[in-house]
Amino acid sequence: MLLQQRAEALVVWAPAKLNLFLEVLGKRRDGYHDLETLMVTVNLYDTLCFKEGPSAEVSFSCESVSYGGSVAADRSLELPGGQDNLVVRAVEVLRRETGIGRGVAILLRKRIPVRAGLGGGSSDAAATLVGLNRWWGLGLSVERLGALAAELGSDVPFFLHAPSAVCRGRGERVEPVRLPGALHFVIACPAQGLSTARVFTACEPARHPQRSDALVEAFQSGRSAAAAKRLLNRLSPAAEQCCAELGWVRGSFSRHAWLGHQMSGSGSAYFGLCRDRRQARALAGRLSAAAMRVFCVRSSP
Ligand code: C5P
Repeated sequence: MLLQQRAEALVVWAPAKLNLFLEVLGKRRDGYHDLETLMVTVNLYDTLCFKEGPSAEVSFSCESVSYGGSVAADRSLELPGGQDNLVVRAVEVLRRETGIGRGVAILLRKRIPVRAGLGGGSSDAAATLVGLNRWWGLGLSVERLGALAAELGSDVPFFLHAPSAVCRGRGERVEPVRLPGALHFVIACPAQGLSTARVFTACEPARHPQRSDALVEAFQSGRSAAAAKRLLNRLSPAAEQCCAELGWVRGSFSRHAWLGHQMSGSGSAYFGLCRDRRQARALAGRLSAAAMRVFCVRSSP
């Protein structure tokens, strides 16, 4: 996450994430699932702009920005508006926590596809917590922000500790890990998005759960090809049950020479890990022929 103080505004860059490993350890009594997941942020960003509002009101607006830079109408986003949007909920949680009555005008410029398993909504929520903590001068610690983040969603705390971390519990227990060097990916987003709750409901926890250690060690020692063999997403079969197009996407990826490929989070975005930027650009070009939104990205430093 990047913060940029401009003349009369604070701009926060909220990155997307990819799950390089996602094991489902079991279902919990509270309806959530215990996980072990390795997440990394990549250079595909939403931006949030915080400005002084005309009154003590909080106003929130959102526009969709394509990679070419054109701006679409809000309704094309399929985003929950008003009180249900995670940005609005993050503002409310902060106001409740601190009792602050100041207003703010927030503009969200959305580039990260929604319902894709790329963590866009969670990243926006984390950016709101961090942005307003700065903009309003609240002085909340990272620990306190982490607790508020966990209230908002399982993936939100990760974005306070990005760029890479192993997350456990329902996702809120974050252990940052350092992955040296840039990793290059191509992300493809099918037209159909997926509901996280629906995919988790359909998933089968692992009988013999795998661990992320070997994958993390392989990345840390620069052995990307060995790491790629250990990519895992236990939610994939469930997501493919919910979205027939995903099997076809996996088939398209398997025709190319990636180091490895899999779905991110609860889908429906799918990604390939590449040797370098050059290979990523070449393979992205081949996927672009299919009717999917394709992004060529690298892991955040
Ligand atoms: O935490 P979040 O609101 O993002 O989760 C959305 C839904 O995904 C939850 O209501 C739950 O059904 C499912 N989920 C889960 N186990 C997790 C994370 C999410 O079952 N660890």
